[in-house]
Amino acid sequence: MKTLERTLAIIKPDAVRKHAIGNIIEQLERNGFHILAMKILEISKHQAGQFYAVHAHRPFYNSLTDFMSSGPIVVLALERENAVADLRKLMGTTNPADAAEGTIRKRWATNIEQNAIHGSDADESARFELSYFFAGYELTG
Ligand code: CMP
Repeated sequence: MKTLERTLAIIKPDAVRKHAIGNIIEQLERNGFHILAMKILEISKHQAGQFYAVHAHRPFYNSLTDFMSSGPIVVLALERENAVADLRKLMGTTNPADAAEGTIRKRWATNIEQNAIHGSDADESARFELSYFFAGYELTG
């Protein structure tokens, strides 16, 4: 039997500024992702830093947290079979210069940092990231 997985997606400030929210959500739904919960919000640099704590030692951490707190984002709790890996396929590579045709980053990303969308990279990070933005009662599906 196939099991459903959950993952977190974030439509980043660059894509929100490009009015790409509707297009990206349409692409997620067309690819079979069920939206369990969704909200638009702004986060502080401190909150962005907590979310991206695994990257705290990276040279791009300061700039990344500035960017992620630079305007509204849309956070989505998604459910599907193989959701974690298949969302990352649909997103395309981190650097949009290498992204395949048809991927979200190929169409919408600005550069390697301002790359339109985030998706959890593993089951364990999905659990942390979903619980960062959503309370249990919001994810009853
Ligand atoms: P994301 O998938 O959200 O995970 C970490 C983020 O850090 C990544 O997307 C980019 O926004 C950013 N990032 C990763 N690598 C680089 C890099 N080399 N330079 C700048 N930003 C990066």
